[in-house]
Parts: sequence; C-alpha cells; structure tokens
Amino acid sequence: MDLNGKHIVLGLSGGIACYKAAELCRALIKEGATVQVVMTEAAAQFITPVTLQALSNRTVYGSQWDAREPNNMAHINLSREADAILIAPASADFMAKLLHGRADDLLSLMCLARPIDTVPLLIAPAMNREMWAHPATQRNMAQLKADGTHLLGVGNGEQACGETGDGRMLEPQELLQDVIAFFQPKVLAGHHVLVSAGPTFEAIDPVRGITNLSSGKMGFAIARAAQEAGAAVTLVAGPVALATPRGVKRINVVSALDMMDACVSQADQATVFIATAAVADWRPDTAAHEKIKKDGSGLVPQLGFVENPDILATLAQSPRAATGDLFCVGFAAESHDLLAHATAKRARKNVPLLVGNIGPSTFGQDDNALLLVDANGAREIPRNSKLALARLLVADIAKRVARQSA
Ligand code: CTP
Repeated sequence: MDLNGKHIVLGLSGGIACYKAAELCRALIKEGATVQVVMTEAAAQFITPVTLQALSNRTVYGSQWDAREPNNMAHINLSREADAILIAPASADFMAKLLHGRADDLLSLMCLARPIDTVPLLIAPAMNREMWAHPATQRNMAQLKADGTHLLGVGNGEQACGETGDGRMLEPQELLQDVIAFFQPKVLAGHHVLVSAGPTFEAIDPVRGITNLSSGKMGFAIARAAQEAGAAVTLVAGPVALATPRGVKRINVVSALDMMDACVSQADQATVFIATAAVADWRPDTAAHEKIKKDGSGLVPQLGFVENPDILATLAQSPRAATGDLFCVGFAAESHDLLAHATAKRARKNVPLLVGNIGPSTFGQDDNALLLVDANGAREIPRNSKLALARLLVADIAKRVARQSA
C-alpha cells in the first residue's frame, strides 16, 4: 500500500465536487493512509459530515470553536499531526482566501497555521469553467504556487452546471495517483526519460501479423515510477490496451520500424532511455496490401523475413550515449540461463545496465523478479509487484546517472 503510515488532513470547501471527496477519502484509506476530514460550512451543504465520518472512521471537524480539543486549538493540533493537507475540492473562494492568508474558519485557519516547511499543502481546484478562467482565479493560482502550494490540476469536460470546459475536479483515482506521486522521492528531477514498452506488431497483410506475448506492464510501471520520481517521461508504446500513467506523454506505435522512428526522434531530448519493449526481431519482407486469400489449392503462402533494426543498440551507439548524456538501459527476456544470456547481451548491446527477467514467467503478470547486470556483476531484485520493482529500478538508475554526471 503506497500511503502506509501517512496521515492526511482532507479539507473540503464548498462545491458540488464534494461528492467526489467521499470516494477520494475511501481511496486514500485503501492505500494505507489515515484521513482526518475537515469541512467548511459550505462543504457541509453539499455532503454531510456523517458520510465522511463513516468513511474515515474519525469524527469530522468543522469549527474552530470545537470543544473536543482540550486546548481548544483544533487548527494547531490537526495540522501538526499531518504529513500533508489536501484540499479537495478547493473552491475559487477558498483559493482566494488562502492567497490572502485569511483565517476565519477552521480549514483556512489550519492552512495558515500549518508548519509551512514540513506540512505540504496540496489543492485540487473545482469550479465552473468561467470561474476557473477568470483572471482573478488564474492570478491567485500563480501566487499560491509561488507561495509553495502544490497545485493538482483540473479536469476538462462536462460540468455539473451543464457547461463544458476546464475546471472540474480531477477524479478520485487521478487525485490518489497524484498524492502517491507527491510522496515519492524526486530522484530524477530535471531528467527526461524515454521508455519503450509492449510488443510490436509486424503486418503480414491488412488483417494479420506477427506479435508476441509482452503485456507492456513492466514498461508502463517504469514510466509511472520515473514520472513519480520527477522526470519528464515519454512512453513509446506498442499495441497494448493499458492506461497511460498520469503525467506521461505517450506515443503509440505498431511496428518495430515505427518504434525505431519514434524513439530516435524523442531521444534527442532524453537523458535516460529504458528499452523494455519486446521488439519483433524479424518482419515479413513484404506486407500484402490486400488480405491474402486461400485459393483452394491447399498451398500455403510463402513468407520471407527481414531483420528489424535494433533500437537499443542504435541509441546506445549514438554520440549522446558516448558522451554520457544519454544513459541507456536494456531489458532481456530470457527463457533460461538468465545470468549468462543477460551478461552476453549487455556486452553485445553496449549498455551500462541490462535488466534480465524470465519472460514466460512474467509476461502478463503483475509481479516479476529482476536481475541487474552491469560491468561489475549482477544483483537480484527479488519478486515483487511490477510497480514496486519499477520504483527500485528507477532509484538504482538515478544513482548511476548521478555518479556518471558527477
Ligand atoms: N531491442 C531493441 N530493438 C530490437 C530488439 C531488441 O531495442 N530490434 C531491445 C529490447 O527492448 C531489450 C533488449 O533490446 O531492451 C533485448 O531484447 P531481446 O529481445 O531480449 O534481445 P534480442 O536482441 O532480440 O536478442 P535474442 O533474440 O538473441 O534474445
């Protein structure tokens, strides 16, 4: 659970998006957090404290005059316990209040009284599109950011008022991902990570082709972990139906040649390339423009193959890799003799780090085990979820990149 041990004060200001805060409260708790809800008077018009008390398993606070606290200082006590204060929804009015340091109710009082260096303030705005676009709101938002508030974005789409545009609150699952990411160490801040992932599909004709069993899950987990670690991430993905990790730029490709073009053009900005894709080694030498039909003779079509370019080896030989500006990491999916194959493959592809795994036991699964092979030998990262492995791998790569540029 990604929020184990974290104590979050979830603040609700007034807005119809309060209904989503109930789901968010539950999602935070399911990830291991403890949640203390604080509501403004306006928020309580949209959702009752009873609902949030039941979901958080704690009584909800709403007033600075709450006599439950022996010292009658709920704003101090609640903010001192928190690992973060998350305001969701943050109304336009509440943002304006925060900006001016006003403190005329418990929630704003608590935000102002929080120890600014140790208790981060995250806000998830929610409002009508005109209110969001208004220069006053945009100005407030810019100043809140400058004051150190961590601004979670807004969604775009249909709004409760019937209008369509920017300003709706992000969905609870999106906010959850952003809160989890917020707590990850920013070991790749300032870096641009390029990840290739998934299988490729090599067309035989318009309806058939050759592909493989790669699910793309490991590559997508690495893209997410790199984004959480503060990097700008571009994910070049073969045909898989996985959701794009939050904040990651995704480029969909089909064939190995498409993947090669996309990776080469994106590599100019990248400082790290992680090649997790299971690129088809060969493609049919000609793809038929029309579906190949049976002609009744019983004869089968004769397919010829040509070798695909090696994307990893190409980028590992590029001038930027040679000068240490692009750190290349390869993957090896093997069926046996992992250490020997991975060691040989690292040398053949000329990469500083190669990550081996046993393909058939990991394809499509949610967990895996990794063998990290470098010039000095090998180290195993034992079986774990792909996301946990991805975070450990990203931390390892960050150390190597830092050593290289030191
Ligand atoms: N790779 C690549 N382009 C290719 C083939 C592989 O970028 N055309 C990358 C993969 O993304 C992976 C690494 O090279 O990071 C190793 O891929 P793998 O398929 O295991 O190795 P191959 O080079 O195909 O070697 P072999 O078929 O002998 O196992």
